[in-house]
Amino acid sequence: MLEPAKDVFADRRRRFMERMGDRSVAVFCSAPEVVRSNDSHFDFRQNSDLWYLTGFEEPDTVLVLIPGHDKHPVVMFVRKRDKDREVWDGPRAGVEGAKERYGANEAFLVEELDAKLPELLEGRDRLFYGLGLYADRDRRVIHALTRVRASARRGKRAPREIVDPSYVLHEMRLFKTPAEVDTLRRAVEVSADGHVRAMQTTRPGRGEWELQAEVEYVFKRGGAKAPGYTTIVGSGANACILHYVQNSRQMEAGELVLVDAGAEVGYYTGDITRTWPVSGTFTGPQREIYDLVLRSQQEVIAMSKPGVPWTALHEKAVEVLTQGMVDRGILAGPVPKAIEEKTFRAWYMHSTGHWLGIDVHDVGSYYDAPEEARTLQPGMVFTVEPGLYFAPDAPGVPERYKGIGIRIEDDILVTATGHDVLSKGAPKEPHEIEALVGTAV
Ligand code: GLY
Ligand code: MN
Ligand code: MN
Repeated sequence: MLEPAKDVFADRRRRFMERMGDRSVAVFCSAPEVVRSNDSHFDFRQNSDLWYLTGFEEPDTVLVLIPGHDKHPVVMFVRKRDKDREVWDGPRAGVEGAKERYGANEAFLVEELDAKLPELLEGRDRLFYGLGLYADRDRRVIHALTRVRASARRGKRAPREIVDPSYVLHEMRLFKTPAEVDTLRRAVEVSADGHVRAMQTTRPGRGEWELQAEVEYVFKRGGAKAPGYTTIVGSGANACILHYVQNSRQMEAGELVLVDAGAEVGYYTGDITRTWPVSGTFTGPQREIYDLVLRSQQEVIAMSKPGVPWTALHEKAVEVLTQGMVDRGILAGPVPKAIEEKTFRAWYMHSTGHWLGIDVHDVGSYYDAPEEARTLQPGMVFTVEPGLYFAPDAPGVPERYKGIGIRIEDDILVTATGHDVLSKGAPKEPHEIEALVGTAV
C-alpha cells in the first residue's frame, strides 16, 4: 500500500503532460545533497515534484517530459552505476533501471546533461521549469536554452516562454487520490500514535528531548522514514516560540508542554500539535485558555465542507479567539475593532492552517484569483491549528495567563459531504489527556 505502483507515476506523468500541451517540454531536478559535517550529508530526500512524477529516490537526477514525442516522451538523467560507490552507499538504478523500473523511454548519465539537454528542448515553444530552486541546475538549464537559441540561425526553434510548472502540477498535487489519502491517513495515524506515547511518557523532570525521542521512536516503528519536519517540543514558555526546535529544557511540574510533530510515511506527512500538562492536570488559567483554543478549533473543523471559502476558516478562528481574549481582559474590545485593527495578532500571530501532503506546507494555491479565496473541495487535505501564545513578558496580559502557549492542530480531509478528521487518534479533550499523561512512566 505504501509503495505506489509504477503505473501511479505513469498516470501522473500522463495527466501532467496532457495539461502541458504539445510543443512544450518540462524539466524537473532532484534536490542537491547537503553537507552536514565534513564529508557527511544530511539525509537525502527527493524533491517532492520529482518524486510525485517518478517515485525515483536518488540524487543527481533530472527528468525531462516531452509530450507527444514519438520516441521518448519521458527522459531521465541519472547517476551511473558504480560498483565501488554502491558498496558504500547502496544500489543505484542507473540508466537501465531508470528505463526498466521508472518508466523512462530514454535515459542518460547525468554527466551528459549539458550535451543532451539542448536537443531535448529544441523545437518546443514552452519550457516548464521551476526557476530559482537550485542555482546550479538553473545555470545548466539556461545554458542549454542559450545553446538552442544560438542554433536558431540553422533553423532550430528554441522555447520562447519559460513557464512555472507549479500552476499545473501543484494543482494536481492539491487534490489527493484515494490511494494518496490511504497513505496520508497512515502517516497521520502514526503521527497520532507518537503523540499518545509522548503524553504517556511525560512527567516533571524529563527533558523535552526525551519526548522528542519517544515521538520519533513511534514514528520509525510505524514505518516513517523520518519526521516530515523538525519535531517541536516546547515546555513552559518555550511553547510561545512557534518554531522552537532546540528541545533542550527539562520540563517542570505545573507547566504545559506543546508537541508539534508529524511522521512522514511513504512520502506523505502528518502534522499534529497537542498541548498537555506536564504533571497531568491543567491549572485553572491553563484550562481556560485550552478550552478557548479547543473551541475555536472545533468550530473551524465543524464548518469544513465543500464550498466553504478557505479564508472563512481563519476568520472563524480569529473571531472565537478574539472574543475569548476580550472576555478575559487580555485584549481591549470591542471585538470587531480588535479584529479590524488586528490587535489579536499580538497573541495569535500565525494563520489557522495550510494544505498538507507530500510537503508539510503542501503546494497548491489558496486563491482562485487575487483576493478571491478558493473554496474547499473533496480530496483536499489541510490542517486546522489555532493557538494562543502569551510569553512571560507579554504586555497587558493578566499575570495568570503569562507563560502559557497552546496550539491544537488536526489534519482534515474534505469529503463529498463534509470532512474527516484524520488525526482523531490523538486525544484532545482535556479529560482524555489528563487520563493519559504520565501513565507509562
Ligand atoms: N509543523 C509546522 C506547522 O504546523 O505548520
Ligand atoms: Mn501545520
Ligand atoms: Mn504543526
